Amino acid sequence: MKIKIDSPLDMHLHLRDEDMLKVVAPLSAQTFSGALVMPNLIPPITTKEQLLDYKNRIEEAKKYNNFKPYMTLFFKSDYTYEFLKEIKKDILAIKLYPAGITTNSEDGVANFSIDVLSPVLEAMSELGIVLSVHGETNGFVMDREAEFIPIYEKIAKRFPKLKIVMEHITTKEAVKALDEYENLYATITLHHLYITLDDVAGGLLRPHLFCKPIAKRPEDRMALRKVAFMAHPKVMFGSDSAPHPRYKKEAPGCAAGVFSAPVALAALAQIFDEADALESLQKFVSQNAQKIYNITPPRKEVVLEKEEFLVPSSYENVVPIFANETLRWKVVDVL
Ligand code: DOR
Ligand code: ZN
Repeated sequence: MKIKIDSPLDMHLHLRDEDMLKVVAPLSAQTFSGALVMPNLIPPITTKEQLLDYKNRIEEAKKYNNFKPYMTLFFKSDYTYEFLKEIKKDILAIKLYPAGITTNSEDGVANFSIDVLSPVLEAMSELGIVLSVHGETNGFVMDREAEFIPIYEKIAKRFPKLKIVMEHITTKEAVKALDEYENLYATITLHHLYITLDDVAGGLLRPHLFCKPIAKRPEDRMALRKVAFMAHPKVMFGSDSAPHPRYKKEAPGCAAGVFSAPVALAALAQIFDEADALESLQKFVSQNAQKIYNITPPRKEVVLEKEEFLVPSSYENVVPIFANETLRWKVVDVL
């Protein structure tokens, strides 16, 4: 059995920089037609020069031509309207991180008072720039996303024309919010469709499945699966593939991030097939994002076959999800 996916998009991707960029960029560019690239480098991407230089480094590292890196800027509440107006054509979204919530987010937002955020959000709304958000509070780790929902609601109500993407949602509460506010959208990762906290910490600790937001309960996963498998028009695939070198994962202080980009399409085909939802996969990995972001990515046809795929134990020094496991679907051709 074979299926074909046109122009798959990964709307939440960490490509890093330097040696890591050279390892991971081609792995995404091989099978995806484009990706929304996260700005949480050290230092984060906050100027036009940094943004364009980083884009050039991605273009040099990607090795496959028909792959478009859609760039993001790291949210700062002191950007001016003039700056945003000038940079608008070079970015697809601005990514907001609460300060210190995850990898390289120390320069993120510490004060969520609407008065502090308003000038930039107002400008983004007027200019039509999408707000992409890592929505977690600094509360108890299992409750962080649900506790952040009132902040999404506050922003969604105050700026009804601003498109807000709740990144990597993991809870039934976030799924519910999607239908309550017209301007709320969401990405869903591969790993949150597959795993719950039990897979991370229910048996032996599995550091390569440790990420932020942490995987939640079976009923949360069920809510995510439901909207993904029906290709709910407000959800799109965003892998949040977040490579860290093995020594940072297999360590007493394990870095957060699941590396999934090179296996994403095969593993998505597998889980959609098992749910009898293969007909929704095209929308989930491409059309929905094209509509939400108003983009036309480069043409690329990816052929997947129901055939065994032994996932490598590592890609250089990075361990992927499903390392050494056999998936039941495989990418067999890219046209
Ligand atoms: O697990 C994660 N890793 N979650 C994030 O939000 C950031 C990412 C990273 O950059 O490593
Ligand atoms: Zn991320």
